[in-house]
Amino acid sequence: MTHFLQDSRFLRACRREKADCTPVWLMRQAGRYMPEYRALRQKYSLLTLCKTPELAAEVTLQPIRRFGFDAAIVFADILLPIEAMGLQLEFAKGEGPVIANPISSEKEVDAITTFDVEQRLGFVSETVRIVIKELQRIPLIGFAGAPFTLASYMIEGGHSRHFLKTKQLMYQSPRAWQKLMEKISQITVAYLQMQIQAGASAVQLFDSWAGVLSPDDYKNFVIPYSRHVLKSLSVPTIHFSTGTSSYLKLICAAGGDVISIDWKIPLNEARKKIGTRAIQGNLDPASLLKKEKDLITDIRTILDLAAGAPGHIFNLGHGVFPETPVENVELLVEEVHQYSKQWNQ
Ligand code: CP3
Repeated sequence: MTHFLQDSRFLRACRREKADCTPVWLMRQAGRYMPEYRALRQKYSLLTLCKTPELAAEVTLQPIRRFGFDAAIVFADILLPIEAMGLQLEFAKGEGPVIANPISSEKEVDAITTFDVEQRLGFVSETVRIVIKELQRIPLIGFAGAPFTLASYMIEGGHSRHFLKTKQLMYQSPRAWQKLMEKISQITVAYLQMQIQAGASAVQLFDSWAGVLSPDDYKNFVIPYSRHVLKSLSVPTIHFSTGTSSYLKLICAAGGDVISIDWKIPLNEARKKIGTRAIQGNLDPASLLKKEKDLITDIRTILDLAAGAPGHIFNLGHGVFPETPVENVELLVEEVHQYSKQWNQ
C-alpha cells in the first residue's frame, strides 16, 4: 500500500518527479460549498465534527468521493492546538474564531505549558487512522498552523485587520515573543509528528497571515521558528502563505519541500524565485465563481505557465469560498487532469 502511495501523482510532484498528469487538491476542499458537508453541520458544530473521529473522517472523504482529488486533507482546524494550550476557543456564527482569553503579557506566555499531544489532540490521529484505511491509494495530508499565524490568533483573540496587538508584543516584548513562538513551535512539531505517525503522507504548514509583515520582520521574528518546524519532519512538507510573493525567497529560506503561492504572482515568476523546489498553486479562489469558459481559461493559463515541468501541484492560492458552485470544482479537477496530460506522459 505504501508503495502505491509513494508512486501517487501527488507524492511524485512533491519530490519533483514526472507524473501522468498534474495532481490537484484544494485548500478547504471539505466545507460549506458542499451540500453533504452542510447537512452534517446542521446537526453538529464545527468543533464537534473535528473532535469526533468518525465524523471528521467522513467529512475528509466527502470531497474525495465526489471529485477525484489527488490528495485528501485531514478534517481539523489550525486552531485546535490553541485550545489544547489552554485558550478558550469558539467559532461564533458569522464571525469566525473567537478566543475568550487571549495572551497579552509575558506572564501569560509563561503560563502555557507543553502537554502530551496524543492525550489532548488524539482525536486528530484517530481521524487520520480511519481515513487512511478507507483511502488506500490516495495520500492524506496532515496540517498545522505556522507559529506566526497561530501566535496572531492567540494574541488578537480572533481575526484582525492590522495585527497591531501581535506586532506590539513582537516589538515591545521580544523575550515574550521568543518564548511564545518557541512553545508553539515545539507543540506544532509534536502535533505534526503525531499525524505522520498515524499515517499522513505529507504535511502542510499554514502561515495564512505571514504577508502582513515586512520582509525584515518576517526574517527576524518568524523564520527561525517556521524553520525549526519544517526541518523536524520526516515526510514532504508544504509551506503555505499568502501575501508574500515579494519575499518568496525568505519563505524558501524558512523551508518546505513544496512552496504554496497565492494568485498575486504569475506561476513562472514565482518558480524563478523558488528555484529547485516544488510549487503549489495558484488559482484565485474567486475564479471558481466565473463562467465555465473563463474558468477554463484561468486554469489553462496556470498550466501553460507551469509548462509540464515536474513538481507542480495544482491548487488555489487560498481556501475555497462557500459560494463556490460544486459543478465548477468538478470542472476544475477534470480540466487540470485532461489539459496537463499533454506534457506528462
Ligand atoms: O478541507 C480542508 O481544507 C480541511 C479543513 C480545514 C479547516 N480549517 C476546517 C474549517 C483547514 C485546512 C483549516 C485551516 C484553517 N483554519 C486556516 C488556514 C487556512 C486559511 O484559510 O488561511 C485558518 C486561518 C483557520 C482558522 C479558521 N477556521 C477561520 C478563520 C475560520 C472561519 C472562517 C470560515 O471559513 O468560516 C474557521 C472555520 C472553519 N475551519 C471552517 C472549516 C470547514 C468553516 C466553518 C463551518 O463549517 O462553519
